[in-house]
Amino acid sequence: MRTQVAIIGAGPAGLTLGRLLERAGIDAIIIEQRSADYVLGRIRAGVLEQSSVDLLRAIGAGARMDEEGLFHDGVELSFDGDTLRVDFNELVGRRVMVYGQTEVTRDLMDARAASGAVSIYGAQDVAIHDFDGAAPRVTYKKDGRDFEITCDFIAGCDGYHGVTRASVPAGAVTGFERVYPFGWLGVLVDQPPVSEELIYAHHARGFALCSMRSQTRSRYYVQVPAGEVVEDWSDDRFWEELRARLNPETAETLKTGTPIEKSIAPLRSFVAEPLRFGSMFLAGDAAHIVPPTGAKGLNMAIHDVAVLAEALTERYGEKSNAGIDAYSARVLENTWRTERFSWWMTQLLHTFPETGDFGRRIQRADFDYLRVSRIARQSLAENYTGFKSA
Ligand code: APR
Ligand code: PHB
Repeated sequence: MRTQVAIIGAGPAGLTLGRLLERAGIDAIIIEQRSADYVLGRIRAGVLEQSSVDLLRAIGAGARMDEEGLFHDGVELSFDGDTLRVDFNELVGRRVMVYGQTEVTRDLMDARAASGAVSIYGAQDVAIHDFDGAAPRVTYKKDGRDFEITCDFIAGCDGYHGVTRASVPAGAVTGFERVYPFGWLGVLVDQPPVSEELIYAHHARGFALCSMRSQTRSRYYVQVPAGEVVEDWSDDRFWEELRARLNPETAETLKTGTPIEKSIAPLRSFVAEPLRFGSMFLAGDAAHIVPPTGAKGLNMAIHDVAVLAEALTERYGEKSNAGIDAYSARVLENTWRTERFSWWMTQLLHTFPETGDFGRRIQRADFDYLRVSRIARQSLAENYTGFKSA
């Protein structure tokens, strides 16, 4: 088989890139190791920046989002029960859209399936070859047979544990990483959300987040120490812990129930540099990971592939390498800005066992600064809703 761009991974990064390239008349095949159902079984964050919303609409994956997504004008922060509303719309004239990543992925898959573009699910032993040379190739096995795809470019959209970054020779790529000593225990429950907007809560017992998927489906999280297992968290224990971390009036109105999903995700900040290796580009979680506190993972992935699609369009159309030469620097600039924001939100809102009382006083000062300073709130609003360089 032959294609122009071989896209490894059918998460939001790979699927969005596929749509963008299709629109530009560039041929691409998506190669995914899992089944489509497995990909759709993953539950992740659900906040879209306006630029992500615009892009999903532009690639024909916005219809259901426009019907079912919820526009939010702001969020609530809470610190030991004291609350502060950050009004994005009033502060920076922007809003965010609450719409689950699972739904985004489904819409992208449906759009791709309808267009007839080739996606290979269940590809085993995916390997990439000669991406430094003139004839890059991707090989894989499926149903006991060996396959090979020759291509011009390879897009590494295969997530943090994927094969593309791992195939770069040692020494050619540097990883910058911070692993946090805690994770998020999350539940999905068919109950109306406790609040119309998201609540990010700091409490001496740890961070908590109240989020939602719809008017009848809520998503809640509590910070738990690294190494905790979900089996140790009965439903009752979870609800009790969540209530203890919220402000008492909010806790009182919380509607609980039997979760339809319960899982623990570790928190990590990670950036790979550079992001281009000859004819291979890293994008999305393959390139960087953020802790979910700023809800940036999906938005970063969409940003990366928008830059990549533009660069490849320029390459095929105007025969110019300017875009692909600039890819790594352009994406890294956005990446580090977003890494900083996600790290800062994480730092502000979680409890860190090692920092002690001094650390907690500093966190309180950070929260109080937000309360008294419009500029501080504006900075949060600008970053949360998505800062983009001109
Ligand atoms: N070969 C083929 N596919 C692979 C391989 C491999 N060796 N390794 C991983 N994959 C697939 C995974 O099964 C997954 O479907 O690549 C896909 C990567 O998807 P994601 O992990 O969702 O990453 P990405 O598309 O970059 O999306 C970023 O996902 O993790 C969240 O917060 C993050 O919201 C952000 C978004
Ligand atoms: C979610 O709804 O899952 C969610 C929302 C906001 C975040 C993280 C996760 O910051």
